[in-house]
Amino acid sequence: MERSTFTGALLRWFAQYGRELPWRGIDDPYGIWVSEVILQQTRIEQGRDYWLRFMEHFPTVESLAAASEDDVLRMWQGLGYYSRARNLHAAARQVVEQGGFPRSIEGLRALKGVGDYTAAAVGSMAFHLPAAAVDGNVYRVLARHYGIDVPINTTRGKHTFENLAQQLLPVDDASAFNQAMMDFGATWCTPKSPRCIDCPVAETCVALRSGRINELPVKEKKLKVQERHLTYVYIRHEGKTAFHRRPAGDIWQGLWEPLLVENKSMPELGCPLTLLAHNVKHVLTHRVLLADFYLAEPETRPELPSDYCWIDECDVDNYAVSRLVEKLLDYLMK
Ligand code: ADE
Repeated sequence: MERSTFTGALLRWFAQYGRELPWRGIDDPYGIWVSEVILQQTRIEQGRDYWLRFMEHFPTVESLAAASEDDVLRMWQGLGYYSRARNLHAAARQVVEQGGFPRSIEGLRALKGVGDYTAAAVGSMAFHLPAAAVDGNVYRVLARHYGIDVPINTTRGKHTFENLAQQLLPVDDASAFNQAMMDFGATWCTPKSPRCIDCPVAETCVALRSGRINELPVKEKKLKVQERHLTYVYIRHEGKTAFHRRPAGDIWQGLWEPLLVENKSMPELGCPLTLLAHNVKHVLTHRVLLADFYLAEPETRPELPSDYCWIDECDVDNYAVSRLVEKLLDYLMK
């Protein structure tokens, strides 16, 4: 099979320096898929522990499909981007209904939450389908090596890099090639201080030759992310606290939280508030949240909107909460 010099060099590099990851070498599509969904927005070090825990709790796609959404969200707690967990859960049910994982890119693509990247990653690693998986690492490696300055966050950029990756992909070794590109981008051709000195493809790297390593890849500037201020009040009354569940159609849908005040006047709680923390920063993709946390300990139980439940404080750990509310609970312990 003919392959480019670049592809050959990368595969040899991977055989020597590829990372050891717990889902490497397994051929169970379920485990591979779970790892890819976790790694979409989570660093590999943290993702590894979550994957092990998740797989212990839900060892098969059938066990995940049979679980409650609360149980799935609890296992996801702290990873953020909870729509990933909800989609994973819904897709597990699709897979079980279909009697197993689809073995084509189109079939995988039809699962909830599975896009081009995940379909190609799972398809190549579990079923040896010849599809290039193009993630942020791959954009960077290709932009530098081939000196491509098409912005990576545009439709034209997506097509340019996907086409190139597909041309370079060895059809008989798609799994190794995709993982080689990701590992190489993550450990060698890094955003800052890449290891050009001992790079296996330095000789043919356009960016290195033209001194543009730090200029590539190019990203089109987006508007500055908006800040949003919120105030949480943890109310303590006779060993209980008030939580409500976030409704559908918003971030953190289905997760629990204490009294939230956003651009609204504070309800009358009949007691002074203790400030636990001011301007706690929480960064999301399109927003920066700044939160104030308060503790209120009223003598009498305050009137709250009807969707608030009074739960025992010792049971708080059994409720799935966002990372931000987790921070509040950490302040409360201090
Ligand atoms: N990032 C996401 N998926 C990966 C994989 N399979 N190997 C290395 N890095 C990854």
